[in-house]
Amino acid sequence: MHRKNLFLMNNVCKSFSVSAGNKPLNVLEDITLQIGEGEIVALIGPSGCGKSTIIKIAAGFEKADKGSIVFCGDAVTAPSPQRGVVFQSAVLFPWLTVSQNIAYGLKLKRLNRTLIDEKCAEFISIVGLTGFEHYYPHQLSGGMQQRVAIARVLIMQPKMLLMDEPFASLDAQTRILMQQLLLSISVRLNPAVLFVTHDVEEALILADRIYVMSKLPGSVIRKIGVPFLKPRPISLMGDYEFIKLKQEILSLLFN
Ligand SMILES: Nc1ncnc2c1ncn2[C@@H]1O[C@H](COP(=O)(O)OP(=O)(O)OP(=O)(O)O)[C@@H](O)[C@H]1O
Ligand SMILES: [Mg+2]
Repeated sequence: MHRKNLFLMNNVCKSFSVSAGNKPLNVLEDITLQIGEGEIVALIGPSGCGKSTIIKIAAGFEKADKGSIVFCGDAVTAPSPQRGVVFQSAVLFPWLTVSQNIAYGLKLKRLNRTLIDEKCAEFISIVGLTGFEHYYPHQLSGGMQQRVAIARVLIMQPKMLLMDEPFASLDAQTRILMQQLLLSISVRLNPAVLFVTHDVEEALILADRIYVMSKLPGSVIRKIGVPFLKPRPISLMGDYEFIKLKQEILSLLFN
């Protein structure tokens, strides 16, 4: 299926200079990737190869030294609520309840109170937190906190989600539930998703395409189309094709 490219990163290079006199560290070399509407693209690669740097550049938090970043036809120059970012650990306001955390962005937009309440209830239900509206973050489990963080981003109805190892700190079972939640959100809301992970199985369950990166300086060493139809039940992990692709990616990562 051909889907309109919503996000394009073309020939992006990035280096960091930490102190005067030291040689700059070459972090990203010629990164090119495209993400269409409703597509999930996974980035996988060794620690320190520049995955989070790609997320930060895509979000508009960092500038590329070279290359172009285009979102909805316009150059990315600054962060935008249209590109919602979810990090490894939920960054919530501890003094606000689940509802208040999730409603925060809409309140800043000064939307009408009833509309905010309706939207808030809708997104709380999408992430399965109905009944926990009045809980504070410290009263929630790690997985629940991460669902609040996801709902808080989703309520702004971003065209794109930038997810930097969002499920890495969760236990194995919650992680599987969260992966299935993301797949259902993807079908329901159709955002373009750039998803960073260290977990090959997670990449294969979620992604339409996987970009495998090299060690520092990070470059894309292989682009792999993931052929499995959606929905993707957890039992897919036992299929021969799944295991074959997993081995192929592992051998790229460990060679
Ligand atoms: N603001 C910065 N200033 C200097 N160096 C930086 C900065 N941000 C990242 N780096 C360097 O860039 C390299 C890549 O970092 P990055 O966080 O993108 O890696 P990563 O692939 O996300 O790693 P991990 O898998 O461990 O999260 C690292 O060597 C890091 O030290
Ligand atoms: Mg990282």
